[in-house]
Amino acid sequence: QGRPVKVTVTGAAGQIGYALLFRIASGHLLGPDVPVRLSLLEIPQAVKAAEGTAMELDDCAFPLLAGIDITDDANRAFDGANVGLLVGARPRTKGMERGDLLQANGGIFGPQGRAINDHAADDVRVLVVGNPANTNALIARSHAPDVPADRFTAMTRLDHNRALSQLAARLDVPVTAITKMTIWGNHSATQYPDLYNAEVNGKIAAEQVDEAWLRDTFIPTVAKRGAAIIEARGASSAASAANAALNHVHDWFNGTPEGDWTSVALSSDGSYGVPEGLISSFPAVSRGGEWHIVQGLPVNPFSRERIDTSVRELIEERDAVKELGLI
Ligand code: NAI
Repeated sequence: QGRPVKVTVTGAAGQIGYALLFRIASGHLLGPDVPVRLSLLEIPQAVKAAEGTAMELDDCAFPLLAGIDITDDANRAFDGANVGLLVGARPRTKGMERGDLLQANGGIFGPQGRAINDHAADDVRVLVVGNPANTNALIARSHAPDVPADRFTAMTRLDHNRALSQLAARLDVPVTAITKMTIWGNHSATQYPDLYNAEVNGKIAAEQVDEAWLRDTFIPTVAKRGAAIIEARGASSAASAANAALNHVHDWFNGTPEGDWTSVALSSDGSYGVPEGLISSFPAVSRGGEWHIVQGLPVNPFSRERIDTSVRELIEERDAVKELGLI
């Protein structure tokens, strides 16, 4: 076994944290042979709860878990970090305007971005889960000018997995029959799950479902699944979000399977007409520890309009945080 990989998790005492940490420590983030050292960042009021979770982690006696640090200081939490999972965020509460929400999250993701810039390992890779994930990632990235921009990503893997599962159920096929699924745009209700490039047993998915189902059932079900989970469970998705975060980072380190791709919100290089620098979801493959946007996919007028709508929302969020001086 080599040197442990340092994984920093923010919001470690939250719901997703509880579903995430035990699986990281059991090898589901990086692989079954990679030892990890966990660094848990929480706000002062939640440090004690994080300590309780750490006690349980100890009690699992995970062979791969090399140690756990807990702190409320971002500089310490990210010191030497190889992986940053930015889960903790300020949720929207009743009566809160969008500007207030962005401001509150700017106060979290700005300092964390700077702490990553100043203290993380040179190879640091960051996944932002906390919402609004794309724009929080943009804020963090803008405070880390010394870190290559492509190390900052946001999570649309849960949306991707939801799309796989909905389509598989509709066609009564295993999820493994589906390849080349894409979520485009923002991790929000405007996201666009694309069946015109997805394949089921090697054939275009959109040709195997009727258009009305695609438009009126599939897309809204995937896009509004988060709200449906809250409605049913009385709490937002946690285990499935943690699972998607593990999938995202696992693929980043270990590569995506040959002949397939996944969905990642990453810094646009201008591909598919998405303005450069915006953190938007794309079809992407991972090779050698780097994401590459899949190029040259056909985008029909229906898809174009959906992608543009979601990207417009991202531009508005970017302009709003710029106006607030957060980037
Ligand atoms: P939660 O409220 O259970 O936990 C959040 C934790 O973050 C709390 O323990 C809180 O003390 C902590 N926290 C707040 N500010 C912090 C800071 N500055 N530094 C460190 N920790 C801080 O929330 P939950 O359910 O774990 O969700 C976390 C985030 O993930 C939310 O923003 C949620 O909207 C988002 N989410 C994103 C998904 C995606 O697909 N991208 C899917 C599901 C949730």
